[in-house]
Amino acid sequence: MPESAPHRRPLPLIGTVGGGRSRRTCELRCGDACFHPAPNTSDNPYFGDVFAKALSRRSMLGAAVIGAGAGALGVAAPAAADRGPNRPKPAPRPTFKSVLPNNDDKVTIPNGYDQHVIVRWGDPVVPGAPAFDVENQTAEAQAEQFGYNCDYVGFHQLDENRGLLWVNHEYTNEHIMFRGYRGGASATAEQIRIAMAAHGGSLVELDRVGRTGQWRLSGGERRFNRRITTETPLTLTGPAAGHDLLKTAEDPTGTTVRGMLNNCAGGYTPWGTFLSGEENFNQYFAKAPARPEYARYGLPTGSSGRRWEGVDERFDLSRHPNEANRFGWIVEIDPLDPSAPPAKRTMLGRFKHEGATIRLAKDGRAVAYMGDDERFDYIYKFVSAKKYREGDTRHNLTLLDTGVLYVARLTGNSPEEEIDGSGALPSDGEFDGYGDWIALTSDTTSFVDGFTVAEVLIHTRLAADTVGATKMDRPEDMEASPATGKVYVALTNNSAREPGQADEPNPRGPNKHGHILEIIEHNADSAAEAFAWNVPLLCGDPEDEDTYYAGYDKSKVMPISAPDNVAFDRDGNLWISTDGQPGAMGFNDGLHVMPVEGRFRGELKTFATVPVSAEACGPLISEDNKTVFLAPQHPGDNGTFEAPTSVWPDGDFPRPSVVCIWHKGGRDVGQ
Ligand code: FEO
Ligand code: CA
Ligand code: CA
Ligand code: CA
Repeated sequence: MPESAPHRRPLPLIGTVGGGRSRRTCELRCGDACFHPAPNTSDNPYFGDVFAKALSRRSMLGAAVIGAGAGALGVAAPAAADRGPNRPKPAPRPTFKSVLPNNDDKVTIPNGYDQHVIVRWGDPVVPGAPAFDVENQTAEAQAEQFGYNCDYVGFHQLDENRGLLWVNHEYTNEHIMFRGYRGGASATAEQIRIAMAAHGGSLVELDRVGRTGQWRLSGGERRFNRRITTETPLTLTGPAAGHDLLKTAEDPTGTTVRGMLNNCAGGYTPWGTFLSGEENFNQYFAKAPARPEYARYGLPTGSSGRRWEGVDERFDLSRHPNEANRFGWIVEIDPLDPSAPPAKRTMLGRFKHEGATIRLAKDGRAVAYMGDDERFDYIYKFVSAKKYREGDTRHNLTLLDTGVLYVARLTGNSPEEEIDGSGALPSDGEFDGYGDWIALTSDTTSFVDGFTVAEVLIHTRLAADTVGATKMDRPEDMEASPATGKVYVALTNNSAREPGQADEPNPRGPNKHGHILEIIEHNADSAAEAFAWNVPLLCGDPEDEDTYYAGYDKSKVMPISAPDNVAFDRDGNLWISTDGQPGAMGFNDGLHVMPVEGRFRGELKTFATVPVSAEACGPLISEDNKTVFLAPQHPGDNGTFEAPTSVWPDGDFPRPSVVCIWHKGGRDVGQ
């Protein structure tokens, strides 16, 4: 039997807003996205408005979806589809004893496990980089050292004992990076340049320690070690590259951009490259023209909070209005070719990209799943035109440049009056239904009236508004199970959804704690244009009536709020990290694991918690199932340099870092 339900310590609430981030996180990571009206002001309908249309659309979808089963709209409840003789074999049930909710200033892991801090903000990355000196930091040093606020973590294994760790550096917390920092107009040019250099990504070579799941920074040649910053040249590729909307005075060809911004989650491709999503890029710009194509992305008409426009005029949109169009893309990085500029793949659309994860379709085409992390924004998918070729890197590096970009429309199968915003299950026992992927554009033909191919790709949100895409509760990371191909979407929360705006795929209004969506592609083919879906997890306190753990006994599960990143272990258990538990629940963020197949589906356990005021980024489970990589981001972001609230990891001041966690007895992680 699992351990009994967790203690519910009364824990102090840190100053928080919305779903549960610290106020400081909102300001610096998202440009206070939740304090502004949601940028989606389209009259693109909520579920209630489309229900009648959905019924008629059922016949249009035809056998593709109806063949899936016999629900109220002719779509199988996904669980029912799994009850046949070919149902997937469940992954081994996690057997570790859950970490309890806490406010401790450390990474807490289960008994029997050990941990190691691999790399910290300021550690040298490029061979010859200077040692870190927090009191005397320079932009030049930072550009060769590990950047700030680690988010996505990817791992390219070179051989059994060597690998390359890629880490996104999403944003900076200047008030805990610099002594005496006061912000706004008082920021010095050097502080701004350091912050710019602390954005981007790092690639570092690692060595395995003995035959364990522990990895450490390599002391060897490190010829692949690399920093990407806001100054690194990147290329623009795909159908929109070279378009007039991407040209600037600095780059009259519209094909080369300096740097990448606010890189959040990402993915690792079957051909060995990393994908990295530019998310809240809007906050770096100032003086946007008052036009819909800027407003829809939340680009400010006044000065920026970070004041970068005072140091580099390209961030002043009154002078360089197209510069903002050159951010908000998926970036592809080839770790084995340090001389190759990272590439912004325009075919995957421009929005607040959380990340992109690749799954190969049955015929070998590459499929990318992508969330646009904003309240009431959309879920996207890209299907390549060409097929993956094993071992042909040159060919595979072109896969993301041609194909079709889709946006998701989800329809419920329960009557509208049964979805009241409370989270109470409808009479058929599940929040579920069917969906279709609406084609927005191919690389040669736009399917959106009034938009050219390049306009769909550059103004993707505006194009998607016109086709009836479903407004979701902040779609973040998406990941397909390696065991089943089912796709899981983290929907973090949405404090702005009114009860009357609740629909079956987003059934709570307001949605304080978020939920997980499971997508089951038709015929288990990732390239399908129709799918079934259901909500296996409504997050929160399991003692609250509005939570749901796939029907599992809620006295035997752990609390969770604000699901953000998702990952799979080799066997198909779903790992979920969180971004907002301190505010929403009163305890630190963490990393949870939940079986999604078999009789233990919904048995959510807590594997780790992160230090004070950090969010739990990464996470990544190694291919051999022996290591969990976890990236505590913004520890102590509710303090100041002079009065830190976290001193993780070294006891002096907070440093965003990447840790690895492994079982001391050599078991698979989770066991
Ligand atoms: Fe950077 Fe959507 O989290
Ligand atoms: Ca239903
Ligand atoms: Ca995220
Ligand atoms: Ca996050």
